[in-house]
Amino acid sequence: MPAISASACAKLILLGEHAVVYGEPALAVPFSGLRARAAVEAWIGAPSGRIHIFARDLDLDQEWSLLPENNLVRNALTLVLTELGIERLPTCKLNLTTEIPISSGLGASAALAVALMRAFSAFLGHPLDSERLNALAFESETLIHGRPSGIDNTVVVYEQPILFSKASGFEVIRSTDDFHLLVADSGVKKATALTVSQLAQDYSENPENIGAIIREIGSLTQAGVRALRMGDQPALGDALNRNQELLTLLNLSCPELDTLISAARQAGALGAKLTGGGKGGHMLALTAPDQLERVRNALLKAGARSVYHTVLKQEAANA
Ligand code: MEV
Repeated sequence: MPAISASACAKLILLGEHAVVYGEPALAVPFSGLRARAAVEAWIGAPSGRIHIFARDLDLDQEWSLLPENNLVRNALTLVLTELGIERLPTCKLNLTTEIPISSGLGASAALAVALMRAFSAFLGHPLDSERLNALAFESETLIHGRPSGIDNTVVVYEQPILFSKASGFEVIRSTDDFHLLVADSGVKKATALTVSQLAQDYSENPENIGAIIREIGSLTQAGVRALRMGDQPALGDALNRNQELLTLLNLSCPELDTLISAARQAGALGAKLTGGGKGGHMLALTAPDQLERVRNALLKAGARSVYHTVLKQEAANA
């Protein structure tokens, strides 16, 4: 029996991270070039009910049952078994890999869970549809992050540019131009759970100021959506820059990100900001095609560990 394989993409939050946790809208796009992959195959000859996990990037090479309760892989498999009402464990080997750096703002935890749940449910003969998969991926994110808004799992499952809010769910956004983004790694790892809980603490101590900032971020997201729909690159760049100022006021940036963001702007990027949980991880820079080489070189010179290029395509956004 051949292995059953599945994958899931990374994501980029263009506008609205953190504010989305407090009910504001946020704009996220898939980063399809970077993926997590899972493959499940029958384990012929092994004692029945044994599941072996091999995940080099997560440092795992062991029996499923020996993983700690709160482990992402264990939890994702349990969610699928429970959802499908399967009590008898299959006997299989599971291989999990990720090109998406962990704890770096690109949605690795959501992508790993989604790839795994896609492959495992298909192996069990009951591939999950997107809606059920998204609900399970949200539960997985809750275990990892504590208080997720749901934006990461949603953009990863549907792999479309989305405007998301906790109250309204998501809407696919159509853009009328190609938007080129450079995405650079600050080299600082930071778990999203930490920055989310730090902001929650600050919010409870200073509700008026922080609440006003969060609401302004929500308005910027709406301005960014209008810019995407109209193909207005400078307007999207301005929204990104202002969002970064507000994230800095929320104490979510860090010196490494600041250095990359100002290098990108000085080299001609239309706008630049951190993306995801912040305090490390990645930044993104909206860049006109004829400036890509210049901005990429500036980012590398300023200390970026890696620089990816991705395009939010007019066609893809129209899907
Ligand atoms: C993380 O990618 C985005 C945050 O807004 C957290 C969340 O929405 O769950 C920081």
